Amino acid sequence: MTNRGGGAGVPLLAALLVLLSWAVVSSVSVAPPEARLQVGYYSRTCPRAEDLVRNVVLAAIRRDPGNGPGLVRLFFHDCFVRGCDASVLLDTAPGSNATSVEKASQANFPSLRGFAVVSRAKRVLERRCRRTVSCADILAFAARDACRTMGGVDFAVPAGRRDGRASNASEVLRNLPAPFADAATLVGAFAAKNLTAEDMVALSGAHSFGRSHCSAFSFRLYPQIAADLNATYGRHLRRRCPAATGRRDRVVDLDPRTELLLDNQYYRNVQTREVLFTSDVTLLSRNDTAALVDLYARNRTLWKSRFAAAMVKMGHLDVLTGSQGEIRKFCNRVN
Ligand code: HEM
Ligand SMILES: *[C@@H]1O[C@H](CO)[C@@H](O)[C@H](O)[C@H]1NC(C)=O
Ligand SMILES: *[C@@H]1O[C@H](CO)[C@@H](O)[C@H](O)[C@H]1NC(C)=O
Ligand SMILES: *[C@@H]1O[C@H](CO)[C@@H](O)[C@H](O)[C@H]1NC(C)=O
Ligand SMILES: *[C@@H]1O[C@H](CO)[C@@H](O)[C@H](O)[C@H]1NC(C)=O
Ligand SMILES: *[C@@H]1O[C@H](CO)[C@@H](O)[C@H](O)[C@H]1NC(C)=O
Ligand SMILES: *[C@@H]1O[C@H](CO)[C@@H](O)[C@H](O)[C@H]1NC(C)=O
Repeated sequence: MTNRGGGAGVPLLAALLVLLSWAVVSSVSVAPPEARLQVGYYSRTCPRAEDLVRNVVLAAIRRDPGNGPGLVRLFFHDCFVRGCDASVLLDTAPGSNATSVEKASQANFPSLRGFAVVSRAKRVLERRCRRTVSCADILAFAARDACRTMGGVDFAVPAGRRDGRASNASEVLRNLPAPFADAATLVGAFAAKNLTAEDMVALSGAHSFGRSHCSAFSFRLYPQIAADLNATYGRHLRRRCPAATGRRDRVVDLDPRTELLLDNQYYRNVQTREVLFTSDVTLLSRNDTAALVDLYARNRTLWKSRFAAAMVKMGHLDVLTGSQGEIRKFCNRVN
C-alpha cells in the first residue's frame, strides 16, 4: 500500500478507501517494515528501470571489476547509517558541508568507490523516466547486479525507497563496526539494525571480493604479526604493506584466492586465518558464529541463499517511503 506517486486513478482511490476504512476499524498505525517495499515497484512507472541500471553496472564492472565490490560496500554503508536513503552519496546537505557529510568520514573516505556508477545510472534514468527512480533504489539494484555478475548470487530487490535530505559524518563511526571489532561488538552492531548473528556471518561473505587499504589492518602486522593472523599470510601481507608507507596507502585483495569472485571462499579463509580483519577471524571465537562459518565453508548454495536473504533484509533498514524524503535529480545532492 505504498504510494507510488504514479497516475494510478481508480486503483489508487480504491486503495485509499480500503486504507481509510481499515484505519477506522483499527488504530494500528503501520504495516511491518518488510511490507513497505515491493518487488517490481517501477513496473508501471518505469518498466525498464532495473534493466537500465543493470546495463550501466555491467559496463562499469567490465571496465573495472573493482566497481562490483565497491557497490556492495556502498550499499552496506548507506543502509547502516540513516537507513538505505542514499545519504552516503551526498557531497553536501542542508546543514552539512563537504567535510561533514557521511562520505567524508574516515570509514568512507577515500576507500568507498562506485559513486560514479550510481551517478551514471541516475543520468540514464532521468533521461528515460524523469524524477521517478530514487538513488536509494538505484544503489540497491546496483549492489544486487554486482552480486549476480561477480558471484552468481541473484535475488529480487523490493523497491520504493525515497532519498534522504540529510547526511552527517558523525553518525558513521557510531553505526558501522570497525575492522578491530570482536564478535560481541559485531553481533551488537548488527542487532542494533535488527540483523541477527546469522545475517552478520552471511553478509561478511562479501569480504570474498574487493580490496582493503593497508591502513585498515596494519595494526595486525606491526609491531607483531597478530596471534590470530596466519603467520605465513602475515609475512606476505607485511611485504605488501611496509611499515613506513609514507603517504601512499597501498591496497591488498580481501580474498587472496579468488579476488574477483563473490563466493564462499571467504569462510575457508577465515578457517585458515587468512583474512585481513579482526572482525573476520573473530567469527571463530564463538560457537554459534564458528558453526556458521563451517556450514557456509562447506555449502556454497546454502551461503548464497542466506547471503541473498540478508541483503534483502539489510535493504529494508530505516527506509523512507511514501511522501517521506524525495526523488533526487542528482544522486550527489539534494534537490
Ligand atoms: C562485519 C563488519 C564489517 C567490517 C568491520 C568491515 C570492514 C571493512 C573494511 C575495513 C574494508 C576495507 C576498506 C578499504 O580500506 O578499502 C572493507 C571492505 C569491503 N567490505 Fe566490509 N566490513 C564489514 C562488513 C561488510 C558487509 C556487511 C558488507 C556487505 C554486505 C561488506 C562489504 C565489503 C566489500 C565488498 C569490501 C571491498 C570494497 C572494495 O573493494 O572497494 N563488508 N570492509
Ligand atoms: C550531526 O550529528 C551531531 C552529533 O549527533 C550533531 O551534533 C549535529 O548537529 C549534526 N549535524 C547536522 C547537520 O545535523
Ligand atoms: C563544516 O561543518 C562542520 C560541522 O557542521 C563545521 O564544524 C565546519 O567548520 C564546516 N567546515 C567548513 C569548511 O565550512
Ligand atoms: C527493529 O525492530 C524493532 C521492533 O520490531 C523496531 O521498533 C525498530 O525500529 C527496528 N529497528 C530498525 C533499525 O529497523
Ligand atoms: C595458514 O595457512 C595455511 C595455508 O592455507 C594453512 O595450511 C594453515 O593451516 C594455516 N594456519 C592456521 C593456523 O590456520
Ligand atoms: C562451545 O562448544 C564447546 C565444544 O563443543 C563446548 O564445550 C562449550 O560449552 C560451548 N560453549 C558455549 C558457550 O556454548
Ligand atoms: C546445502 O544446502 C542446501 C540448501 O540450501 C541443501 O539443499 C543441500 O542439501 C546442502 N548440501 C549439503 C552437501 O549439505
